[in-house]
Amino acid sequence: MSAPAPPLLAAEGVTRRLPEGVTLVSDVTLAVGRGEFVAVTGPSGSGKSSLLYLLGLLDRPSEGRILLEGRDTAGLDGEALAALRLARIGFVFQFHFLLPEFSALDNVLVPMRRLGRLPLVEARRRALALLEALGMREAAGKLPEQLSGGMRQRAAIARALANDPALLLADEPTGNLDTRNAAAVFDIFAGLAAEGRTVIVVTHDLALAGRARRRVHLVDGRVVSDGPP
Ligand SMILES: Nc1ncnc2c1ncn2[C@@H]1O[C@H](COP(=O)(O)OP(=O)(O)OP(=O)(O)O)[C@@H](O)[C@H]1O
Ligand SMILES: [Mg+2]
Repeated sequence: MSAPAPPLLAAEGVTRRLPEGVTLVSDVTLAVGRGEFVAVTGPSGSGKSSLLYLLGLLDRPSEGRILLEGRDTAGLDGEALAALRLARIGFVFQFHFLLPEFSALDNVLVPMRRLGRLPLVEARRRALALLEALGMREAAGKLPEQLSGGMRQRAAIARALANDPALLLADEPTGNLDTRNAAAVFDIFAGLAAEGRTVIVVTHDLALAGRARRRVHLVDGRVVSDGPP
């Protein structure tokens, strides 16, 4: 008999403490499956961003461990972590962080060029398809400054999806958007999860969090509830 597939992402007893003794995340245990859409909520300063950085392998736990696709990441050095992030994890932040001198298309190509898996012709085709799927076909050649806030964020989502990540992490991705654009971004995330991608979104907006299938609520760095919103 084969062993059951491991969860896509698992945090086991993860604590993150700063050298000066401040605890950002405290004993978090969490398993997230393929295709799950999870909202992480909690008051300001509750550790949402800190937890997301840990889950995204941008930071390391002081105690406990993070497993991605069943693989313990604790023993990986910085270079191996960066390679794993590039290939398996997409990030979206409150600020789009698009390169201002690059078109939307060229921004989406950046992670593809870094990974170097696809020949340029195919990479361009994929980047255009991603932008088109997000309603950005006409905007592919435009610079970020020529795009609306909602379009910039969609370009940032397309870039996050460039290398076909198993896991998409977003930290307050709708923090700068109006209600309509914010709802559109959550619809995109729900669609990505329905396609089998795992999506974890930090938001303080409880109405938006209600669109996720599962809500993890943090207080003082601890998970105080975890279940349907
Ligand atoms: N580098 C740091 N040095 C000191 N304290 C920090 C540092 N980073 C975070 N903190 C503190 O750790 C706690 C958790 O911060 P974090 O940014 O993860 O919270 P958050 O839930 O994302 O908050 P927000 O909703 O405001 O974004 C906060 O009290 C914050 O002030
Ligand atoms: Mg935060």
